[in-house]
Amino acid sequence: MRFLFVMDPAHSMLPDKDTSFAFMEAAKERGHQCYHCLPAQVGLRGKHVTTVSAHVEVQRMAPAVKLGVYEEHPAADFDAIFIRKDPPFDAAYLALTQVLDLAEAETFVLNHPRALRDANEKLLALHYLDFMPETIVTSQPSDVFTFVDRVGEAVMKPLDGAGGSGVVRLSKGDKNVRALTDLLTGEGKRLAMVQRFEPAIKEGDKRVLLLDGELLGVIRRVPQEEDFRANIHVGGRVEATDLTPREKELVQAIGPSLRERGLWFVGLDLIAEKLIEINVTSPTGIQELARLTASRPAHKVIEFVERQAKRRGDRGQDA
Ligand SMILES: Nc1ncnc2c1ncn2[C@@H]1O[C@H](COP(=O)(O)OP(=O)(O)O)[C@@H](O)[C@H]1O
Ligand SMILES: [Mg+2]
Repeated sequence: MRFLFVMDPAHSMLPDKDTSFAFMEAAKERGHQCYHCLPAQVGLRGKHVTTVSAHVEVQRMAPAVKLGVYEEHPAADFDAIFIRKDPPFDAAYLALTQVLDLAEAETFVLNHPRALRDANEKLLALHYLDFMPETIVTSQPSDVFTFVDRVGEAVMKPLDGAGGSGVVRLSKGDKNVRALTDLLTGEGKRLAMVQRFEPAIKEGDKRVLLLDGELLGVIRRVPQEEDFRANIHVGGRVEATDLTPREKELVQAIGPSLRERGLWFVGLDLIAEKLIEINVTSPTGIQELARLTASRPAHKVIEFVERQAKRRGDRGQDA
């Protein structure tokens, strides 16, 4: 099969860390060809999606990424397209999902472009409020102060952040609360999320990877001593872990509805058995999961994509 990865520059992939790298590696091991392009290299010829893309091959020794020549390839030449662009979700990302809506007729696209467009990684969790810590979303500084005064300890986060960027802790009485609130709300003009602080973050959060609505695997990320943010990007260290009964219940409750939306590969962030965030754009953690559990989760994702692509191909032949 031929798989296209729409993502950041291919050479920016870290061989030991990147989930996209692991997908390409697993695809290669299963005999498939991978191609790379940037979001801006996806366009239309009439209603047909076309790309300027290059053959890409990955390996564990240098050079880790071998790129061919960028040439025009219609989307219909690919059995599947992986959208793996890192946040932020900006105007270019929005346009990418709108263009790839038209590729849906021709090839399997993961995650579903409409679902990516609809979902905000922070707000999507609010659809499953029963599993979340107490949370408000507001642009009004007075709302933030009232919330912090009531709960004592809170976190505030931008709605479009990732990798721990812009996530701050607000403590009642702290003289930084007003300044940070002004910063994150653009002085009352932008929405931000404010949430009860979960002290259990000291022992880490859990990154739960779901595939097709079911558990693919879970890792724990423990913040550095000097930070409360557990993201690997800001120095969180990973450990093996598993799900508690309550966390299994959470996965069973929300997995099927994520699948229904076309969010087949997602990463949930949990703290103290509560849902914090649903990562859908380019969830990561698969390499850490593979190392800690001596399993091959990337292969499972590729096998899932193979099945979806094949099902489509069969349907295409019937038509
Ligand atoms: N309610 C919370 N209580 C304690 N720590 C939190 C809370 N929400 C987020 N954090 C910390 O901040 C990190 C980043 O938050 P998250 O909502 O996952 O945003 P993102 O990963 O997109 O930056 C989490 O991994 C966790 O360490
Ligand atoms: Mg997160």
